[in-house]
Amino acid sequence: MAMAQPFPAQSKPVPVQSRPMPAGVDIKPRRMKFAYDGSPDLWAGDNPVFTRFMEGLSMLFPEGERFFVESVRHYKEQIVDPVLQKQVVAFAAQEGMHSAEHHKYNQRAAGPLTEQFEAVAGHLRTPFARRVISPMNRLAVTVALEHFTAIMADELLRNPAYADLMDPEHTKLWLWHAVEETEHKAVAFDVYRAVGGGYPRRAGIMLITSFLFVVAAVRLLGDLLARDGKKLPRGSVPRFLDLAFGRPGFFRKVFPAWLDYFRPGFHPWDHDNADLIAKWKARYADA
Ligand SMILES: [Fe+2]
Ligand SMILES: [Fe+2]
Repeated sequence: MAMAQPFPAQSKPVPVQSRPMPAGVDIKPRRMKFAYDGSPDLWAGDNPVFTRFMEGLSMLFPEGERFFVESVRHYKEQIVDPVLQKQVVAFAAQEGMHSAEHHKYNQRAAGPLTEQFEAVAGHLRTPFARRVISPMNRLAVTVALEHFTAIMADELLRNPAYADLMDPEHTKLWLWHAVEETEHKAVAFDVYRAVGGGYPRRAGIMLITSFLFVVAAVRLLGDLLARDGKKLPRGSVPRFLDLAFGRPGFFRKVFPAWLDYFRPGFHPWDHDNADLIAKWKARYADA
């Protein structure tokens, strides 16, 4: 039996013009090579909490990003704007590569337990989830999580304090992913609007999704630390909490951008951070 829809039925699709991307921004799938041999186990600030937190996030990507692509592709036939059609293809190519690279990365981190950790986000793709979450709600979840990845990417690219604590090869992976998330940050949003997705659903689903995202990230952090089976070194939790909420305060910094999503006229490119993409390209000599 289909679950009752908690949000108003979708409004009739009306042609909505996607907002042009800032000059110089292109959604470009890049094939990258990473070599983690020689990287230390605690590659983020020599801190088990910081390291396992990032690895926990990485565990969410392979299945999560497959879910994003499926949610957007479901509406492929209804997208009439040829620019947006091309962006959807490039978005799917980028996310496909992110899924693959993070899966390899996760295998390095968790070995045979990788699938078990990745199954946390895999809940979104089970037959049960497909039955009870409507395609429009799945798309709204994708739009919400794409905003999450975009605002976290912005802070990671903007503030060198986090990357400075990481092993360079790991930094390369996270910054590459952050740049591509920035390039395609409006694709799911524009598709949602183009197929008639409205504000109440977008805002309501963001609240639910945010709660579940925090639960998933904390659970994975706990599971990864439990797998280590080691007593946490003194000071590692306060140091992580300081990074997250104090100084520089990653989540404190991204909170206003999270809140901005609840503005009825919000669009991801209202926050033009194309300069961060240009800086990354200069650093990594990307064409
Ligand atoms: Fe991604
Ligand atoms: Fe994405």
